[in-house]
Amino acid sequence: MEDWSARQYLKFEDERTRPPRDLLAQVPLQNPRLVVDLGCGPGNSTELLVARFPQAQMVGLDSSPDMLRKARERLPNCTFVQADIATWKPEPATELIFSNAVLQWLPDHQPVMRRLLEALPGGGVLAVQMPDNTREPGLVFQREVGESGPWRDHPEIKAAARKDLPPPEAYYDLLKPVCSRIDIWHSVYNHVMPSPQAITEWFKGSSLQPFLSPLDAAAREQFLAAYTAKIVGAYKPRFDGKVLLRFPRLFIIAVR
Ligand SMILES: C[S@@+](CC[C@H](N)C(=O)[O-])C[C@H]1O[C@@H](n2cnc3c(N)ncnc32)[C@H](O)[C@@H]1O
Repeated sequence: MEDWSARQYLKFEDERTRPPRDLLAQVPLQNPRLVVDLGCGPGNSTELLVARFPQAQMVGLDSSPDMLRKARERLPNCTFVQADIATWKPEPATELIFSNAVLQWLPDHQPVMRRLLEALPGGGVLAVQMPDNTREPGLVFQREVGESGPWRDHPEIKAAARKDLPPPEAYYDLLKPVCSRIDIWHSVYNHVMPSPQAITEWFKGSSLQPFLSPLDAAAREQFLAAYTAKIVGAYKPRFDGKVLLRFPRLFIIAVR
C-alpha cells in the first residue's frame, strides 16, 4: 500500500478524533506508566493520550514515515517508532495499548489482538476502535467501482476492499479467556459533511487508498469520478446543502 497521506487524513481531524476521545473516556486506568499508541498516525490520538496521562511514558508506533514525521512535529516530547504491528511486541511494563482506527487494516487482526492482550501485565488495558462500515454505501461503492472499471483484474485492486468485521460475539470468545473484564460496544456517528464530494475526500484519506495507490494519475481520476457519481446519487443534501456520513464503529476495552 502507498504511504498514508497525513495531510489527506487530517482534513477531517475533528471528526476523526471524536472516536478516540470516546474510546479513551472508557479506559479504566488512573496512572499508567507506559502507554503505546498503536498506529498513531499523525499524532492526533497520541495527543489525547498525553492530555489524559501527562505523567506516562508515551510511545507512538506506526509503519508510515509520513505519519510519523507529522506526529514528531506535533509532539516533540513523545517517542515515535516505525514498526509493523503484525510483528511488534510490547515492553513488559506496558499498561495501556491504545489502537484507534488501525487494526482493521491488518489482514488477520484477531490473533494479533489476542497476542497483544496476553502480553500485558494484570490490570493492563487493550483499547481498540475499528470502523464497522463495510456495508455502508461509501464502502460498497468502492468495491463496485473496483470490480467494474478497466482496473478490475489488477491483483491489488481485487484485494483492496476491507473484509467485514466479525460480530462482537467473536471478539468476546477470542479475548475473554485471557482478560478479567471486557466491554464491547458500537457507536454510529453521523458526520456532517459540507457536500457529497467531501465524502470522497474523507475516504481518500483512508479506505480508498488501497484502490487508488496501484493506479496512475489518469486512472485515479477516472476511479474517483465514477465513485463520486455514486456518492452523489446516494448521499442526499439536507435542507442546508450538507450531507450526513453515517459511520458505525466498533469499540473494545479488554482488561487483562
Ligand atoms: C486511520 S489511521 C489512525 C491514526 C490515529 N490512530 C487516529 O486515531 O486517528 C491508521 C494508521 O495505522 C497505520 N498502520 C496501518 N497498518 C499498520 C501496521 N501494520 N503497522 C503499523 N501501523 C499501521 C497507518 O500507517 C495509519 O497511520
